[in-house]
Amino acid sequence: MPVERTGALLREGADLLAASGSETPRLDAELLLGHAVGVGRTVVLAHPEAPVGADAARRYRADVARRSTGEPVAYLRGLKEFYGLAFEADPRALIPRPETERLVELAEAEVMRRLGTLERSGDAPPLRVVDVGTGSGAIAVALAVALRGRRALEAVDILATDISVDALGLARENAVGHAVADRIRFVEADLLPDGGASPFDVILANLPYVRTGVIATLPRSTSFEPRLALDGGPDGLAVIERLLALLPTALAADGVALLEIGADQGEAIEDLVALRLPG
Ligand SMILES: C[S@@+](CC[C@H](N)C(=O)[O-])C[C@H]1O[C@@H](n2cnc3c(N)ncnc32)[C@H](O)[C@@H]1O
Repeated sequence: MPVERTGALLREGADLLAASGSETPRLDAELLLGHAVGVGRTVVLAHPEAPVGADAARRYRADVARRSTGEPVAYLRGLKEFYGLAFEADPRALIPRPETERLVELAEAEVMRRLGTLERSGDAPPLRVVDVGTGSGAIAVALAVALRGRRALEAVDILATDISVDALGLARENAVGHAVADRIRFVEADLLPDGGASPFDVILANLPYVRTGVIATLPRSTSFEPRLALDGGPDGLAVIERLLALLPTALAADGVALLEIGADQGEAIEDLVALRLPG
């Protein structure tokens, strides 16, 4: 049996994936071959002449075939990089998106600003932070890891909620994987526990905001992700609007809510905020 080479397998996979409609065929092939061989993508790229064992080549071709039906690369690899960390990814939750890293950046800055500028005595209560609709736990876990790196994690109490028990299972696994499971409370809730009766200093949320009618037009890979993570109702705002309605009690007087929204939803959300949080 002839020896299979990395470079040839990459070309074969990328050609198949391009024909199947993938927008990133070469990248997909590199990630999947790295996964099959058990090395990073850069190693695959750097060694086109490297031989690939029969088992790895078989696994790679099987994954390319699955990818060509639209299955996301992150689910095939079982992981996705987010905020410089590797998160477990599987169909229990949405795959963390790069744009959500901005929300974590803002959250990290906001928490550090509050810890640094608010008058806090040694026995001040911890800052209360909640990640609403935590999914894979990406926001809560990435924030906790970042705060640990800044020696600020002890000063913060992080809650992460989701209405999906499956997603919470994955989120807990990610928290364990990053050694912050003892610092985040995961709770099954419709938005917030107790209907948002107790206030938080910082509310973070990347809730579903896709219009129901648009879901069928999204890239095929999205159909492998939980609909509950995407469907924001007829105008995309149904879930977010319910969260906004809770803010008068759920947000501390000087609290801040940071929400990821659709690119075209800014004005509509401003109107809703004016309605729900006058003044
Ligand atoms: C767009 S995904 C975001 C997941 C994760 N926060 C992220 O950024 O990758 C939205 C998440 O909100 C959850 N969700 C939807 N409706 C909810 C509700 N009423 N209460 C709590 N979570 C909800 C979904 O299960 C899903 O995990």
